[in-house]
Amino acid sequence: DSIATIPTEVPEPHRNQDRSRPQPPARLQGFQNTPDTDPAIAANRAWGDRIRAQMAGSTLGLDTVDASQIDTLAQLQEVIDGAVAANGAWRDLGADRRAEILHRAGEVLQARRADLLEVMGAECGKVLAQGDPEVSEAIDFAHYYAERGRELDHVDGASFTPDRLTVVTPPWNFPVAIPAGSTLAALAAGSSVIIKPAPQARRSGAVMVEALWEAGVPREVLRHVQLSEGELGTQLIGHESVDRVILTGGYETAERFREIRSDLPLLAETSGKNALIVTPSADFDLAARDVATSAFGHAGQKCSAASLVILVGSAATSDRFRRQLVDAVTSMPVGQPWDEQTQIGPIIGPAEGKLLDALTTLEPGQSWLVEPEQLDEAGTLWRPGIRDGVRPGSQFHLTEYFGPVLGIMTADTLTEAIELVNRIEYGLTSGLHSLDEAEIATWMASVEAGNLYVNRGITGAIVQRQPFGGWKKASVGAGTKAGGPNYLTGFGTWTDAPVSV
Ligand code: SER
Repeated sequence: DSIATIPTEVPEPHRNQDRSRPQPPARLQGFQNTPDTDPAIAANRAWGDRIRAQMAGSTLGLDTVDASQIDTLAQLQEVIDGAVAANGAWRDLGADRRAEILHRAGEVLQARRADLLEVMGAECGKVLAQGDPEVSEAIDFAHYYAERGRELDHVDGASFTPDRLTVVTPPWNFPVAIPAGSTLAALAAGSSVIIKPAPQARRSGAVMVEALWEAGVPREVLRHVQLSEGELGTQLIGHESVDRVILTGGYETAERFREIRSDLPLLAETSGKNALIVTPSADFDLAARDVATSAFGHAGQKCSAASLVILVGSAATSDRFRRQLVDAVTSMPVGQPWDEQTQIGPIIGPAEGKLLDALTTLEPGQSWLVEPEQLDEAGTLWRPGIRDGVRPGSQFHLTEYFGPVLGIMTADTLTEAIELVNRIEYGLTSGLHSLDEAEIATWMASVEAGNLYVNRGITGAIVQRQPFGGWKKASVGAGTKAGGPNYLTGFGTWTDAPVSV
């Protein structure tokens, strides 16, 4: 439904690629993305109704979570030792056998799609329309990494030794796809995994882990833990047996991890402050829709979300785009994820700190184009807000908020708009709505972000089609993109000469 989608595998200098590693072919022969559930089919709508009913009455408690509860250092040591001891057999199984198990994991995740959707809604406020593509992405990761894992064993002139132990610390905002992707990648490469889901998303993480166990990933190789206190997390991250940590979270968390252990091999996708530029040549209907969904899908709680829209030239000075944007945003129903019409669900907890400020307080020169409105006592349900007049260098220009608020900036020229984007210290996703090829080329060549999208929304990267990963402070120690050809090559060490496959 877009005019054009430019592939987002961005050339240097956007990629921080480690050229000493093998470069597998960009496309994986025979791989197909898993389709989402089509709501145009009546049976699927009935299926969705049943999931929402279950979600509304969900009684799944934390007692249903099958995880090792760790209260002491001795217990932690036991889990680490067990995962390391089990690694030899997992490694010796070989990539082909591991691939079979991972493909089966994709099938089990598909079979458990309804359970995953129910728990993501009940626990994290995810509506079905957001959760369903997330499950598809998790399934894609299973099939994709299964096949990419095989390549590691077949590189002429080089040999790969997988890590023995990877620690996965995923976020709550994509409570299935991100933990699944990180875990499956490490497993495919031959590593054991200790996963510690975010406290807000433990049940979603648990259903995902159960699916992998059911598919045949040994429980000793994939350990699911809950830690009773932060100090145990520090001990885990800093433990000498841990070969790699995969973090998806805030930039400050990555810095904290590095303080725990300065030589920590860290693969971190961190913060984002993402902008979508709209030029006068854009199709405003498409642009307004894509800005609205990019800003407010999952209530703006995506590292990939649009937090700024930058209007160029007459797109800024006439009020046509603004009017269309207001219509698009104010017609997005806010509510509980089990209500059928809901497009914007609750945020993960009561708005507080800088997010509450962003929802309530304007900076000099700003005005509300749409004022945010708190709809419940708890402070989790918010009609989204749009602030106009965001000035260059202001706090809203440069700060990540992770919630249902969008800012409008203006620029005389596209070049000026790109400069506004590049002043931001993160570079995760970026978007351009323009029907002018010269503008598209200029923007592609100069905007500093890992994932670039033209004439579509800026969230919802698709495995293989849009490998996902940031630049500047949106990424720490990564250098490869999730769901892309090189991702697995980073889960171990290479010996012999650098090669190309
Ligand atoms: N991969 C997600 C997206 O593209 C973000 O983590 O929206």
